Amino acid sequence: MRNVRGFINGIVFTVALLIAAGFVAIYEGVLPAGAENKPSKIEAWIARTSLHATITRDTKNLTNPLQPTDDNLAAGVKLYGENCAVCHGASDGKPSDIAQGLNIKAPQLATDGVEDDPESVTYWKIAHGIRFSAMPSFKKTLTDDDLWRVTMFLKHMDKLPPAIDAQWKKLPSAASQLQ
Ligand code: HEC
Repeated sequence: MRNVRGFINGIVFTVALLIAAGFVAIYEGVLPAGAENKPSKIEAWIARTSLHATITRDTKNLTNPLQPTDDNLAAGVKLYGENCAVCHGASDGKPSDIAQGLNIKAPQLATDGVEDDPESVTYWKIAHGIRFSAMPSFKKTLTDDDLWRVTMFLKHMDKLPPAIDAQWKKLPSAASQLQ
């Protein structure tokens, strides 16, 4: 009986010590808080694995209700220029000052192969954003049709009709836009 009590006390003491150490670490600023710090391997693994599981679960049976007409694609390019190029770059794939300051990098979408991803997955990321990264959720600020239009542009960015492609290539470089 005595041994059991000693054992339980030992556990309680250890847990209390760990909690106290956690509080000291937080209050003393031991955890790196600046955005110039890369997330640790464990944080990156947790975020990536959980994001993948969530998207796989939530995108079943999700399909684009719109057709890739010139009008929809042109609207997608415009929306991209207004909302996304600052972090994800224009057709030259050069990162802006803002993009260079992010740790969890914003992929430069002209060169990262986003057109190979299923539309449902890209739509999910734009609508919901990606937690603990700079990727915002756009479902409050863009209509559902506009979310699909920008998704559709990303899906077709390497095979756009010539007139739309010209519009895409004309978007000012995100890298120079800010200078
Ligand atoms: C403030 C910066 C910022 C803005 C603005 C932004 N994003 Fe992002 N986005 C990010 C970051 C950072 C990531 C990477 C997140 C990660 O790796 O977990 C990302 C990831 C993505 C991805 C996943 C790319 C991949 O290959 O995995 C897509 C698609 C995307 N964003 C689309 C968009 C679109 C479309 C817009 C505009 C409607 C937009 N983003 C606006 C920062 C931004």
